[in-house]
Amino acid sequence: METHTVNIQDVATRARVSLGTVSNVLNRPEVVSEVKRSRVEAAIRELGFVRNESARHLGTGQSRTMGFVVMDASNPFFIDVARGAEAAARRAGSFLLTANSQADPTNERAYLGLFEQQRTQGVLIAPIGDVSDSLARLTARGVPAVVVDSPAPSAEYSSVQTDNVAGGRLAMEHLIATQRQRVDFVGGPLSMHQIEDRLTGARQALHVAGLDPAAMRIWEAESSTEQSGRLIGHRIASLPESVRPDAVLATNDLLAMGVLHALMSYSGIRVPEDIAIIGYDDIDWARSAVVPLSSIRQPSELIGSSAAQLLLEESTSPDFVHQQLLLEPELVTRESTAARTAR
Ligand code: RIB
Repeated sequence: METHTVNIQDVATRARVSLGTVSNVLNRPEVVSEVKRSRVEAAIRELGFVRNESARHLGTGQSRTMGFVVMDASNPFFIDVARGAEAAARRAGSFLLTANSQADPTNERAYLGLFEQQRTQGVLIAPIGDVSDSLARLTARGVPAVVVDSPAPSAEYSSVQTDNVAGGRLAMEHLIATQRQRVDFVGGPLSMHQIEDRLTGARQALHVAGLDPAAMRIWEAESSTEQSGRLIGHRIASLPESVRPDAVLATNDLLAMGVLHALMSYSGIRVPEDIAIIGYDDIDWARSAVVPLSSIRQPSELIGSSAAQLLLEESTSPDFVHQQLLLEPELVTRESTAARTAR
């Protein structure tokens, strides 16, 4: 037997008021008389009415909930981005619901579809791959979307990311400046825009320094995780000393810490004396690593707050113009890339 879900109409009938009055009690109680408000509240209690966002949307025509789909909630970078987005949303009286796709495109599509059905105020997406179809569906439903940490698929969408080519270049310039000559690149998947851009920047720096970019050994990580870093770190340590790198450029701090832990388990390898390591993101753990990690800092919270702000503007102003923001990375030097000393 199908059970009836109590809806906003049931409450209006029970309280002998209009749908609009119930909606006002839910969204703007200050505009409703005490008498009517208490009748509506009694009806909500007696009927066990539970509000949902789509009802809010139908009642006021405007949801106050944003969705944010991140690819890996275990990576502190995305938590920092979400913190910035949440703060901007709350300042505007909105909520942020963060979903974790676990780097699975099927999950990513499912969450984007859920936020579309819920007619959220808008969606932030830090995509794994190509999400242009999902974005088109959101647009068709009047749900704005902002791409985070990756370029927008077209000028019809706003996006916020770090200039990752500049970031990759900064990392390599720093290693070269500390007399490193044989740098291995650890990153992946290389199909991700931000990883590809960091590799481009690293190659640019090698070329400018008169070193051969093609000579840089590339270790493609299956995922940007500490475990992937450990696996690659052991493979680097197993190389004959004559062909081992004297530095590792990792495309995020989790990978860098995995490489660091692997290298440190070999008595014949010292970090940074034998092999320097630099990461990317500058998550909090970087500074507290067993050898404090140099990194390329992303303005993570600013990425989040800027993306949320763009979404709020797009969801409220009809003559909004989309923007593709590129924020500056910053080199943070610590012990893991200290200049070489004689052995
Ligand atoms: O997800 C991989 C990396 O891409 C993150 O660590 C962050 O750097 C993002 O830009």
